[in-house]
Amino acid sequence: MRWSELIEKVRGIDLGAPGHVPPREHVLALQSLLTQALSSPDCLLDCIERQLGLIELGAEALSKPFYLDDEHNFGVRFPHWAPYMGMSAHEHYEWIVSAVTYRALSIYTYEFEAARDERVLRPRNRFEARAGQAGHIYRAGIHNPWNHGAEWAGSIHFYSLGDSPRLLLEGEPIAGLDFEVQALLEQGDWRQIELRSRLSALALQTALGAAKACVDHVMCQLTLRGALECLALSGSTRVPGILVRAYELGCVENRRRCIELIAAHDRRRAKTWQMELEVAERHFTELLAAADHYRKQGNHDVELDLARA
Ligand SMILES: [Fe+2]
Repeated sequence: MRWSELIEKVRGIDLGAPGHVPPREHVLALQSLLTQALSSPDCLLDCIERQLGLIELGAEALSKPFYLDDEHNFGVRFPHWAPYMGMSAHEHYEWIVSAVTYRALSIYTYEFEAARDERVLRPRNRFEARAGQAGHIYRAGIHNPWNHGAEWAGSIHFYSLGDSPRLLLEGEPIAGLDFEVQALLEQGDWRQIELRSRLSALALQTALGAAKACVDHVMCQLTLRGALECLALSGSTRVPGILVRAYELGCVENRRRCIELIAAHDRRRAKTWQMELEVAERHFTELLAAADHYRKQGNHDVELDLARA
């Protein structure tokens, strides 16, 4: 099943409206569709291509939902999880369907009543989910994913557009709940929080004052790295074409990874890319050395020329 077909079929399910939760069977129907779609490699590769398109547009496009359908009340997120990374426990109130896209994730759940009534986060379960496995939260629930592996993993999430945190914004803080968001609340920056989208550590850095351009660059390149690690596991004939597009978007580190990956499909292209990268790196090192030399001599005109070069 292709991504476009999946979306068309999801639109055919009545997923309610913000504040109006659909019957559980409808959420299960979506879960079943998602499992089917992930059983063939094409849907996942379509998602990777769509994500490259967002990276091309820049960090702002990337920070928005991966896909949004206001009319049919669903949004989609398509995150990658770096080794040993995850996100803090967070609340859902309507519905969310999640699936692992590649490798595996641990999913932790917590007792909702204890959080609401006692303001404590009490663990309930831990599930190990492998690529292609899906699950859902229907009405109130607290959970978080974590990648305990030494390699990248990925997931996809379809969620109701009416879902937003409540416990976080009322009463005493709950230790461990949405700790990225709580850090901002303590700083009085809560208006900056796009609650529906959840905060990544990178967005937190932005809010705390790290240079935006730098954070934007890191966000794009980390996402690209996740996409590359997903491609690394695919044997599809579509992979080389997608790698060509990814290479154009990559920083030096990600281009190195592209070269490793394309070598399995196209050794000649791998060699060409390797040479290009070496020339670019040498040129850059020489420019830096020259700029440093002239700076020491106080020759700012030459430095300006170098900057223009
Ligand atoms: Fe969630």
